[in-house]
Amino acid sequence: MAYIHVTGGKKLMGEVDIQGSKNASLPIIAATVLIDGVTRLDRCPRISDVFHMTNILEAIGCKTYWEGSSLIIDTSSLGTSTVPAEYVRKMRSSIIMMGALLGRTNEVTITYPGGCLIGARPIDFHIEAFKKMNISLEDVDGLIVCKTSKIIGTEISFKFPSVGATENTILAAVLASGKTIINNAAKEPEITDLCLFLNKAGAKISGYGTNQIVVEGVERLHEISYRISSDRIVTGTYIAAVAATGGHVKLGHTSCGILQGVIDLYRKIGCHIICDEDNIYVSATGKPRPVPFTKTEPYPGFPTDMQSQTMAVLMSSEGTSQISEEIFEGRYKIVDEFRKFGANIEIEDRLATIHGTPYLKGAKVYASELRGGAALVIAGLVAEGHTFIHNPGHIERGYENICRDLQELGAQIDYVN
Ligand code: UD1
Repeated sequence: MAYIHVTGGKKLMGEVDIQGSKNASLPIIAATVLIDGVTRLDRCPRISDVFHMTNILEAIGCKTYWEGSSLIIDTSSLGTSTVPAEYVRKMRSSIIMMGALLGRTNEVTITYPGGCLIGARPIDFHIEAFKKMNISLEDVDGLIVCKTSKIIGTEISFKFPSVGATENTILAAVLASGKTIINNAAKEPEITDLCLFLNKAGAKISGYGTNQIVVEGVERLHEISYRISSDRIVTGTYIAAVAATGGHVKLGHTSCGILQGVIDLYRKIGCHIICDEDNIYVSATGKPRPVPFTKTEPYPGFPTDMQSQTMAVLMSSEGTSQISEEIFEGRYKIVDEFRKFGANIEIEDRLATIHGTPYLKGAKVYASELRGGAALVIAGLVAEGHTFIHNPGHIERGYENICRDLQELGAQIDYVN
């Protein structure tokens, strides 16, 4: 079985380019279904979650192929609006196909995504929004069967600014009849990316990046090519790696604009961070500083997707830090693996108290989800001796090649097959 072998103790130096965004590319790939023709997505990350989405598109009759880092999708031969159950079970974000298929065909059949390792992750907001848009939903033998004669625009107010529910509602609204107003919409940069993509193809969406998004239904979309923006969580992960090990690194093709919550925190941790239009320069000397308290929040706050990596950094800080996980209750499962490095962390409900320890030792650990897996890599970079991270497939869901990137920065890290 494959694993990642890290020998800790090296400072990171050099430069690395940041890949395209996972969380932007997944809804955009789904959105290509709304275009009856060919879409070209440049700088699309070659990660397993993206391969998973292209498998879904192939399974419903579309054609997909790669030209270098560009993904080309032809949806003109779309043949069914039933998403095979095995795909939805493998990747929860497959539910983003619901809004897109409804928009294109007025129907979709999909299985319930169920829970996942970082928390329960219900889809009640998605379902409520669809119902308000004149879409009927029925449970048939454990499948959700959605149908409509015509999607009708309406006003929807979310109880919480869910990223996936905002995306699914936008996708269903683009070709709907009339105007859809989404209140308390998610403001994440990936929503902006999706709306820019759709508008380039002829959609009429305004307000993205704010908490009220307005979608005016249009008759059809047209073929386009679009460049996916940089992955802010991969950027943040590499900032965290420098904070943990010390060193000086240039992160190319990325920007501070979409990372403010992360940059503010890592400056408090002691990183020196300089931004220009297309690069971020990070340096750190000495041990990370503890942060008295931080909590995860919707954008532009500190993202839940950076919480585990940050805990890995704070494990070796000089003092005690506290983090409150407000979005996904299951993220703390990774703490059992952190303890194998000698970390001193207490968990009480949503609150983690991290007592920095002067010495972490290499360990044999298991990744069980994406960001927790990346956090184990960071712990391995700091720990003395050898770390073996099993189940690296979880990390490959979101990182094109974390070993190659960190090798470029001088880390001793290898993917072993
Ligand atoms: C997306 C991101 C994920 C990120 C998360 C929060 C993708 C592919 N994934 O996930 O990386 O960590 O945003 O920034 O973009 N909720 C409900 N009912 C719903 C929907 C959500 O109660 O119908 C709750 C969830 O349980 C969670 C919170 O809302 O507590 C946020 O979830 P949401 O923003 O929907 O996350 P995802 O879209 O699943």
